[in-house]
Amino acid sequence: MAAAPMLRLCLIFFLAMSMMVFVSSAAPTVGFYRSSCPSAEAIVRKAVTKAVARNPGIAAGLIRMHFHDCFVRGCDASVLLDSTPENPSEKEHPANFPSLRGFEVIDEAKAELEAKCPNTVSCADILAFAARDGALQVGGINYAVPSGRRDGRISLRDEPNDHLPPPSFGANQLEENFARKGLSLDEMVTLSGAHSIGVTRCSTILNRLYSFNATHPTDPSMDPIFARNLRKKCPRSSDDRKTVPLDVLTPNELDNKYYTDLKNHQGMLASDQTLLTSRSTAGFVRNNARFGAAWANKFGAAMVKMGSIDVLTGRQGEIRKNCRVVN
Ligand code: HEM
Ligand SMILES: *[C@@H]1O[C@H](CO)[C@@H](O)[C@H](O)[C@H]1NC(C)=O
Repeated sequence: MAAAPMLRLCLIFFLAMSMMVFVSSAAPTVGFYRSSCPSAEAIVRKAVTKAVARNPGIAAGLIRMHFHDCFVRGCDASVLLDSTPENPSEKEHPANFPSLRGFEVIDEAKAELEAKCPNTVSCADILAFAARDGALQVGGINYAVPSGRRDGRISLRDEPNDHLPPPSFGANQLEENFARKGLSLDEMVTLSGAHSIGVTRCSTILNRLYSFNATHPTDPSMDPIFARNLRKKCPRSSDDRKTVPLDVLTPNELDNKYYTDLKNHQGMLASDQTLLTSRSTAGFVRNNARFGAAWANKFGAAMVKMGSIDVLTGRQGEIRKNCRVVN
């Protein structure tokens, strides 16, 4: 009977196949560029440090950009691709335009990296490093970033619709949205702490201030005095570029004061304040407000986990020469 050798052959075939899969999709590792481009992380850090020293808001922009990259098509730098005449890219989506910022910092780091180690360091890795460097500079939060991501070749304007949570989401919807990316409820609350820095446009919160619902013009989960002050800063007819800090207590420091804001009913977005209102997340909020060092550790770990969502590795994708265009 030929069954046994046949079976063995099949087994060998499947083993070989699974090894190939393993090689071509090896997980990112810390120090991936140690021999191919030893100064890779230092070059990114230098560009970020310079930009953030000039404008601390850039740290917020880079951290948010990494989130918006990873949640749409995985961390493949799809968010960095410019539109072409045939294809409007993720950049045109209202979640990204006009509020996403920091693209020039990535460009600057990439230009320097191409000069020093051409065709070696991916844009997706540059963004992951840059987000970490931003967190270090404005929050003293340091963590090792696994690298070896490759860049994707597709970016579609409407795709963020299905993946990025809008600020109107309640805690259960946020939980579901993050769970689809493999992130836990605790990690969702932990990562929301990124709203401890940066700004929101007034236009994003006008409904909470003026037209919440039929019986409450102002969102009743917002402290009334806080709301009154916010209405002064964000009049009904706010210019779309007008912004307010997301964290009223320490707007330029990445720290756990964001969770104190929530306890004070001074969360800026509905998706922030809901984390205290909802029973499933309130405990995490109170713990993060109390234990800043523990939150900072969790934040670094959750950023690493977020940075591993659906990554391209091995021979998948490409190493872009210019982060704005596919090769
Ligand atoms: C939990 C669900 C989330 C929602 C609904 C959300 C929504 C938003 C919105 C609406 C803004 C303001 C944009 C505008 O100007 O209108 C914003 C800003 C920001 N978000 Fe989130 N976000 C979420 C999670 C995250 C995560 C996970 C991170 C990063 C780890 C993040 C980082 C930031 C930062 C840093 C800013 C300020 C950006 C700047 O100043 O340029 N957000 N977010
Ligand atoms: C308005 O919102 C409040 C608070 O969420 C709620 O109690 C009330 O029932 C809502 N009213 C209407 C008409 O939807």
